Amino acid sequence: MIEVRDLLVRYGERTVARVPELDVRAGECVAIVGESGSGKTTTLLSLLRLTEGAHVSGTVRLFGVDVLRAPERRLRELRGARVALVMQSPQAALSPTTRLGVLMRRALRLHGVANASAVTEEALRGVMLDPAILRRYPHEISGGQAQRFAIALAVALGAEAILADEPTSALDVTVQAEVVGVLRRLREERGLALLLVSHDLALVSTIADRVLVMKDGEVVEAGPAAEVLARPSHPYTRELLEALP
Ligand SMILES: Nc1ncnc2c1ncn2[C@@H]1O[C@H](COP(=O)(O)OP(=O)(O)OP(=O)(O)O)[C@@H](O)[C@H]1O
Ligand SMILES: [Mg+2]
Repeated sequence: MIEVRDLLVRYGERTVARVPELDVRAGECVAIVGESGSGKTTTLLSLLRLTEGAHVSGTVRLFGVDVLRAPERRLRELRGARVALVMQSPQAALSPTTRLGVLMRRALRLHGVANASAVTEEALRGVMLDPAILRRYPHEISGGQAQRFAIALAVALGAEAILADEPTSALDVTVQAEVVGVLRRLREERGLALLLVSHDLALVSTIADRVLVMKDGEVVEAGPAAEVLARPSHPYTRELLEALP
C-alpha cells in the first residue's frame, strides 16, 4: 500500500532526503530512525506531497495512487481519510478556539461518516483517551494526548495507513511509549499499515518489522528491526544504540 522507489527530496541545491526503497504493507510497521535533521519528517511529508517548495523525484505509490504525478484532487481523497498523518506537534495544527469534540464532529461529517458518536467513542477507547477530552480545547491537553487524539481521528475516519512523526525528544519517554503502545494495538486489531518516525531505535524496535536508519538525508542502514538491533552494520547505527540510556 506504500511503495517508494528512488525518492529524492531537494530544497534548492541541497538534498535533504534520499530513499532508494521503502515498502509498507497492510498490518506492517516500518520505522525511520535518525538524529535531528536527518530527513525523517521531510521523507514522511513527501509521501503525501506536502513538502512545499521542495523538488521531489522518484516514485511514491499510496494505495495505487502515483502521488508525485496525481492531480491534487486524488491526493485530497487520500490525505486524512485513507492515509493519516500524525504530526510531531499536532496541537499546532488545531484551531485553538475549537473544542476537540467539535473538531472531531466536523471531520466526520466532512468525510460522511455515519454514527459519529459511536465511532468517536470507540476510536477514543482505542487510544485510551477519556471521552471527557472532547470538551477540552487543544491547549488544554498534553502533547502525548494530542498525538493520541490525532490517531483517534484517523481511526474514526477509517484510515488504513498511519504516518506518525514521533513527538519531539522533549517529550518524556513514557509518553512516547504510550503512543507506540496505542499504535501497536491498532495495528493488531485493524491491520493498519504504520510508518513511524523516531529518534529512538530501541523504542521503535518494539513495534517495527523493518527499520530504516537515516543520517544526513541518506539511508545508511535498512533491514528487519530485530537484525538491525542485534547486529547493526553501520557505525552510525551502533552510535544510535550506544547513545541510549
Ligand atoms: N522547507 C524547508 N526548506 C529548506 N530546508 C528544509 C525545509 N524543511 C526541512 N529542511 C531541511 O531538511 C533537513 C531535514 O529536516 P527534517 O525536518 O526532515 O529532519 P528530521 O529528521 O525530521 O529532524 P527532527 O528529528 O529534528 O524532527 C534539515 O536540514 C532541514 O533544515
Ligand atoms: Mg522531524
